[in-house]
Amino acid sequence: MLPKLGKLRGIVSSLSRQSKTYPELESVYRDLFTRDIAKAGMDDVYYPVGHAANYSLLYLVMRCVQELRLAEILELGAGQTTILLDQAKRALAAKYRVRTIEHDPLWAAQVAGRVGHEIVQAKLLPLAVGGRMTNYYDRDAVFGGGRKYDLIIVDGPPAFTAAMRYDRTGIAAVVEHLLAAEFVIIFDDAERDGEAEAVRACRQLLNGRGVEFLEGSVSGFKRQHVFATTAHAQAAFF
Ligand SMILES: C[S@@+](CC[C@H](N)C(=O)[O-])C[C@H]1O[C@@H](n2cnc3c(N)ncnc32)[C@H](O)[C@@H]1O
Repeated sequence: MLPKLGKLRGIVSSLSRQSKTYPELESVYRDLFTRDIAKAGMDDVYYPVGHAANYSLLYLVMRCVQELRLAEILELGAGQTTILLDQAKRALAAKYRVRTIEHDPLWAAQVAGRVGHEIVQAKLLPLAVGGRMTNYYDRDAVFGGGRKYDLIIVDGPPAFTAAMRYDRTGIAAVVEHLLAAEFVIIFDDAERDGEAEAVRACRQLLNGRGVEFLEGSVSGFKRQHVFATTAHAQAAFF
């Protein structure tokens, strides 16, 4: 009886998370994003479709780079957001540095050809997290450069099949070594079970370390979850 109840609770919680996307708001985020990039003098070269970033993620990243004073950005998973970070840096004359980690060598090379910063190609290696075997970026590649980041965008490795579902929980095994004293973390696809688990694991880890942070979210076709410390608290309300 009890295991059945536990399973039912899991299903209800998964369904309620999925119902927290608001596809009808996607056009609102599109309008805000296109308004902001036009104001910054940036070309609209984006394809926020399929597995790529959706408009609420592009909106959120654009707001972060416009409104927060950021020094070091780590992006896990290359694509539309990589191009956005590169274009916005030039358009806003921003000083931040970007480091992008990508597992797919062909995609890494393709995106690298369009941006001015390094795309680090990292193999996916087996990693045990929270009692599960997952595949996560080679940690030497993630830690390379020894930087501390004030914005981390968790949008990789791919996690859209059942076999890959929990692969982004690997972030919990590396995140505390990557964070600056003040930070924002954006978790994309937070409506999905694996990413919800990644959010939970990072929350538990940071709480256990006594780190104070606010949480927020935005939702269009997909949902993004945000952790933000005091200096960047506004990001939890974007
Ligand atoms: C969710 S996507 C990463 C999204 C990225 N942050 C963006 O804004 O588009 C996760 C992975 O899908 C793969 N991917 C995304 N777009 C792709 C494309 N157009 N062609 C091939 N692979 C792609 C890459 O391996 C990437 O790391």
